[in-house]
Amino acid sequence: MLRTRDILDERDRRLRKVSTDVTFPISDQYKSMINDMIEYLRNSQIDELALRYDLRPGMGMAAPQLGVNKRFFVVVAEKEVEGKQDFDIYVIFNPVITGHSEELIYASEGEGCLSVNRETIGIVPRYARTTIEGYDMNGNKIKYRGREEVSIAFQHELDHLNGILFVDRIDRNNPFKDADKMREI
Ligand code: NI
Repeated sequence: MLRTRDILDERDRRLRKVSTDVTFPISDQYKSMINDMIEYLRNSQIDELALRYDLRPGMGMAAPQLGVNKRFFVVVAEKEVEGKQDFDIYVIFNPVITGHSEELIYASEGEGCLSVNRETIGIVPRYARTTIEGYDMNGNKIKYRGREEVSIAFQHELDHLNGILFVDRIDRNNPFKDADKMREI
């Protein structure tokens, strides 16, 4: 089982590399990594389990955060089904954003990242809606449309595959630059 300490901290140089495409069929190592990532992200959003295993909550994780410089990530988005907590799970290999809204948004609490273990201040402009294409675990072509938090997560995780962290996208001199031109979510 993956624990918070297994996730690389921003000081690790592996988070700064541009990752390379995955070829299919994927290895058993990547399959078990995906399962670990889903399990971690899911459990971390269930209060009781997060507490029990001391998991820092997160909704997305990219392969470089586990020291693997390959282009894939997982997003586990919380939702409510019939009054119960449930999750949408996205696993995307070799992702490409093929479309997006003009509208920009930013996360009101500031964006978080399991690799950034410090307080940050400022906003990260993101597209309100994105279309992302790539492949599933079996190499089948997939296409997802993400809105709001899921759209932010797609862009955030894709950045990881290019060695970019959300803190890089905050304007140093003016951390809330253009906030009035975007929608806060
Ligand atoms: Ni992150």
